[in-house]
Amino acid sequence: MTRRAIYPGSFDPVTCGHLDIVERASRMFDEVVVAILVNPNKTSMFTIDERIETIREVINSRLEKFSAKIVVDTFGGLLAEYATQQQAQAVVRGIRAISDYDYEQQLALMNRRLAPTVETVFLLSAQEYSFLSSRLVKEVFTYGGNIDGLVPSLVIERMSEKLAKGAK
Ligand code: PNS
Repeated sequence: MTRRAIYPGSFDPVTCGHLDIVERASRMFDEVVVAILVNPNKTSMFTIDERIETIREVINSRLEKFSAKIVVDTFGGLLAEYATQQQAQAVVRGIRAISDYDYEQQLALMNRRLAPTVETVFLLSAQEYSFLSSRLVKEVFTYGGNIDGLVPSLVIERMSEKLAKGAK
């Protein structure tokens, strides 16, 4: 039986912290589905297609060893329904600090109620990324701050292009 994990998120943009979790999950599962939430109500820097393409590229270049077992997909609606439909055994979430825990516990318990057989697995983020979030990366970059090493260089390029076009 293929042991499949869903790693859901907004990935706007994907960070080195996300890639660290994808790598850790890839060591544990036969297949890891990086599942991008399609949320029309949330304003984003990158379109869904841009996020899919960027994630695929960075996985192929930075996680080459695991790329055969990593799938990039999108989902809308309930994560629990998507995970069930994908016949996944687990949902993987990264925990950076204790401050993440309250919210993640709520998500996990609600998801468990909705899909009792899908287990949420929390992986501890690498310490060097424990302060990192897509939101902070965008904010710092927008004001000209240095984000080298926090996101793949491809993401910096794509963000530069966006800013040049006047995106927030
Ligand atoms: O990277 P994020 O934005 O923290 O990811 C949050 C995500 C996508 C995991 C969460 O918002 C989610 O699962 N949304 C899908 C809708 C859903 O299932 N909501 C109920 C959660 S219990």
